[in-house]
Amino acid sequence: MDEAYSPLQPIGIFDSGVGGLSVLKAIRKELPNESILYFGDQAHIPYGPRPKEEIQAFSVAITRFLQRKSAKLIVVACNTASAAALRHLRDLFPEIPIVGMEPAVKPAAEMTQTGKMGVLATPTTFAGELYASVVERFGQNVEIFTSTCPGMVEQIEAGELESVKTREILVTALEPMLEAGIDTVVMGCTHYPFVIPVIQSITGSEVRIIDPAPAIARQVGRLLDQRDLLNTRNDREVLQFFTSGDPDRFADMVLTLIGETADALPVHWEGHSIIPET
Ligand code: DGL
Repeated sequence: MDEAYSPLQPIGIFDSGVGGLSVLKAIRKELPNESILYFGDQAHIPYGPRPKEEIQAFSVAITRFLQRKSAKLIVVACNTASAAALRHLRDLFPEIPIVGMEPAVKPAAEMTQTGKMGVLATPTTFAGELYASVVERFGQNVEIFTSTCPGMVEQIEAGELESVKTREILVTALEPMLEAGIDTVVMGCTHYPFVIPVIQSITGSEVRIIDPAPAIARQVGRLLDQRDLLNTRNDREVLQFFTSGDPDRFADMVLTLIGETADALPVHWEGHSIIPET
């Protein structure tokens, strides 16, 4: 067993907002006994257009916050924060396992029949080394079409999962890809799985949509298992949310998006430090 941690400690998950709930849902399904702390940095959303250094500073403070709340593993449930800060976090916090998101180019490249695939992600994700590296390693024999879906993260944060504007943004992103002949689309932002029904209604059922969340959940399970940190008790799991935005609204979104009922506690930022309000 990893002496520094115990199986009963929670997993810490963070995102700029509610997007990481798509990852949390997969982790709850894969590892139902685990306690989870989730941090949504809604005061700073969207991360996508922000400079890398700023996203790094937020990510460091949030990781420290979750570690102080005794997290035994951190999931950066945000492609943008993973692109900007994953390596930096692993350097700064070598003692805690950190799982990050990377665009699922590999499974998409293995699945495509037409050799043409789409990736939807934020500008920071596309600009990062992680994306360049997966394209270099797995995307050499396929044609990749990309879109940053401007405004989509904000629509999802507003709970506008099926509105006319949401559909318009997705049609604008997907139509050129569909005309080019893609048969596979990667969700390269953890917010986007919440609009998969709309995406599928635009693409038609023959286009495959890849959400990496289940693979991330399995990876979390493997890492905990390797360290003897899996929680095998099923009577005491805790689900706790923190937001730097509006806690009542956050709790409503948790219920709407993943059907979980839980309190959200407020936190606020002082410079680049996080202060719990309760
Ligand atoms: N959920 C984040 C991601 O996976 C993006 C949201 C944002 O731009 O803040 O990239």
